[in-house]
Amino acid sequence: MRKRSRFKLLTYLAVAGLITLLVIFAFNSTVLWPSLPKKTPTPKNLHDVISPSTYRFILNQPELCENKSPFLVLMIPVTINGREARTAIRKTWGQYGLIPGVNILHLFIIGQPAQSDPVLQEHLERESKEYGDIIQMDFVDSYHNLTIKTMMMMNWIATYCQGAWYTMKIDADVFLNVRYLVDYLHDQGESSRKDYITGSVISDAVPHRESFNKWYIPEDLYPGTWYPPYVSGAAYVFSTDLARKISWASRFVRPIPLEDVYVGMCLHVLGVKPFYATRFLGLRNLFEVRRLDYERCTFSKRIVVNGFKPQNLLHIWHDFQKSEFTC
Ligand SMILES: *[C@@H]1O[C@H](CO)[C@@H](O)[C@H](O)[C@H]1NC(C)=O
Repeated sequence: MRKRSRFKLLTYLAVAGLITLLVIFAFNSTVLWPSLPKKTPTPKNLHDVISPSTYRFILNQPELCENKSPFLVLMIPVTINGREARTAIRKTWGQYGLIPGVNILHLFIIGQPAQSDPVLQEHLERESKEYGDIIQMDFVDSYHNLTIKTMMMMNWIATYCQGAWYTMKIDADVFLNVRYLVDYLHDQGESSRKDYITGSVISDAVPHRESFNKWYIPEDLYPGTWYPPYVSGAAYVFSTDLARKISWASRFVRPIPLEDVYVGMCLHVLGVKPFYATRFLGLRNLFEVRRLDYERCTFSKRIVVNGFKPQNLLHIWHDFQKSEFTC
């Protein structure tokens, strides 16, 4: 009799344990990750548009990162015509050795003009030999094709620079406060070494359904009512592991011509949430996407500020270098 009741008790305990495990499992999958999308691969002909295997390098820097672990790689999309912007960046926030002891690289990523221009191409090749900071691939460079460019950037980092700690995608017309960014990333610590992406997060965007709109996305391209949270494309930073993961996730996300939203859709597949870089309970946005008049002390407390012509960038840089002594 006694033996039997002990046996019963053990059975109850085992059943209760099993139920607890099942509940924990169900909770994890439905509450913590409520809406991870089903992973259905995109049809091959659609995925090919953003697949690295579709395009060839015209100019590459495969050894730039070899046997190195740079702290940060700046990836800057420009067009072949953007010589003035490239020069300004090399003289300002893209210059080598700006922060002593911190290895930072920069690369310009360029497609091809719709009409081939042998003279311009020759100039670009000379520039590439001189500075060693240009990647060019054979897709047509246009606003509509920026998603292709961004995915080629992810693929380049995943292929040639996995050793980098962080990668930043930054437009050529943006002011970058390199020192503040480096300090900020150091402050984030371990949690920012993996599955980390930060910038100006947009979490309430909806697709534009009017065909005249610059950001028009028809329903058959993206049927959802909302876009998943994404970081504004002007500038964002991520832990380098994400380059490979985003490339992988792109097999399950149909390409749309909004490159920053597209990265957000890939992050959604991965279950990675972008992190809003702010200070003082969100009162100060560190990635300032709107324009802001130059003022040394204001700029010294931002990571990026958007909207600069090359001449303006050169102009404010000299003054900005004094900031740490006076703010
Ligand atoms: C995008 O790039 C592809 C590949 O080079 C090209 O066929 C297509 O015309 C481009 N689209 C636009 C709108 O420029």
